[in-house]
Amino acid sequence: MADAASHSVPLHVAIIMDGNGRWAAARGLPRVAGHREGAKAVRRVIEAAVNHGVRYLTLFAFSSENWQRPAGEVQDLTFLLKHYLRSELDELHAEGVRLKVIGERERFGAALAQELEEAERKTANNKRMTLVLALSYGGRAEIVTAARRAIEAGIKPEDLTEQNFAHFLFTAGIPDPDLVIRTSGEQRVSNFLLWQLAYAEIWFTKVLWPDFCAGDFANALEDYAGRERRFGARPV
Ligand code: IPE
Ligand code: IPE
Ligand code: MG
Repeated sequence: MADAASHSVPLHVAIIMDGNGRWAAARGLPRVAGHREGAKAVRRVIEAAVNHGVRYLTLFAFSSENWQRPAGEVQDLTFLLKHYLRSELDELHAEGVRLKVIGERERFGAALAQELEEAERKTANNKRMTLVLALSYGGRAEIVTAARRAIEAGIKPEDLTEQNFAHFLFTAGIPDPDLVIRTSGEQRVSNFLLWQLAYAEIWFTKVLWPDFCAGDFANALEDYAGRERRFGARPV
């Protein structure tokens, strides 16, 4: 296993956790069963990320477009999120995981939004790994929100730079993802971290999210370690 000090380990891994519905359908189960099983995969992957020495793990759990799903599924997902938070928070905290939420959490209601905030506050000083949960998150909405914040802050057009604009994003202070994983065979970005993915390496797998295991995570990291990142420059 690669160790934490190795540069071949991505500092930040971001995951588009996709395929819960298909996992359930393949078993003749309701979609919620896939989401429930997906929550177990979340546990496995957090543990794997910590073990590999990944410092930032971002999980795309609910997109701003997912509100268009039937009300029953949205309710199931909200319930699972609440349940997950309540059952996992203490252990995440004990493991030294800092929680950070990006997206429009208020859309889940004031009570859950407040619980999320308390979880962030409780874990704010943890140093081992930052777990970023993207909830009601959309990349375009984030960029528009950042633009509004920059205007409100009174930044003059000529003073706006890529660096100071990034401070207005939800992800301020978090390095850009080095590696993005998308499960379930879909090969698209689906409005995830549009600004931050400028130079991310992308790894696709056909594995459905509920089946995703520590071995799959290790495979993604191994593939990443063999890549050459050029950032537009020419290799020396
Ligand atoms: C990912 O699984 C979970 C969310 C997007 C909330 P899906 O629910 O998208 O599952 P598929 O893509 O329909 O299989
Ligand atoms: C992306 O998956 C969003 C999350 C994983 C939370 P979707 O299933 O919503 O994306 P599309 O609709 O297939 O692009
Ligand atoms: Mg999907």
